[in-house]
Amino acid sequence: REAAVAQVQGLIRDIPDFPKPGIIFKDITPLLGDAEGFRLAVDLLADSIEGPTPEYIVGTESRGFIFGAALAYKLGAGFIPVRKPGKLPSEVHACEYQLEYGTDALEVHRDALHQGARTLIVDDLLATGGTARATGDLLRRLGAEMLGYSFVIELTFLAAREHMTDAPVHSLIQY
Ligand code: PRP
Ligand code: MG
Repeated sequence: REAAVAQVQGLIRDIPDFPKPGIIFKDITPLLGDAEGFRLAVDLLADSIEGPTPEYIVGTESRGFIFGAALAYKLGAGFIPVRKPGKLPSEVHACEYQLEYGTDALEVHRDALHQGARTLIVDDLLATGGTARATGDLLRRLGAEMLGYSFVIELTFLAAREHMTDAPVHSLIQY
């Protein structure tokens, strides 16, 4: 397993000063473009799941769709998109969250799942945790059972998981 994680990590590239000076962007596009690496990353996410199998994988637009949809396919689970405002056509729950400057929002269809459905939230990156917490908030409003949060990359120095006490947090790679 450690060798597999190292292989995945080796396909994540640092881009300094993107999107602004002082920020080192973790670029997953080399990983996505590497057939073996991408498959390994999804397999590792699947292997990390403990306990009951999720009925739904919840992926947050847009990078959460990439890993989330692949993981749902692998697990035989449904996929629920959590989207940026105005994209989902039926009735939604919306949750605002803080960005460094200003706020953004995420939405999910109100009829996306049944009460108590076992769900796992998947995204590429846990940074401040604002995105993940907003997604968790939406799932609670839907009455979902939250099995956990799963990320490819976690920026541990931002300590987001300290504020995510509602469900277990898992990440493949930590910086
Ligand atoms: C990035 C990343 C996570 C989020 C993590 O998404 O894909 O979803 O930031 O940051 P946080 O923990 O501080 O909330 P972004 O909003 O840049 O959009 P994208 O997925 O559409 O690229
Ligand atoms: Mg994102």
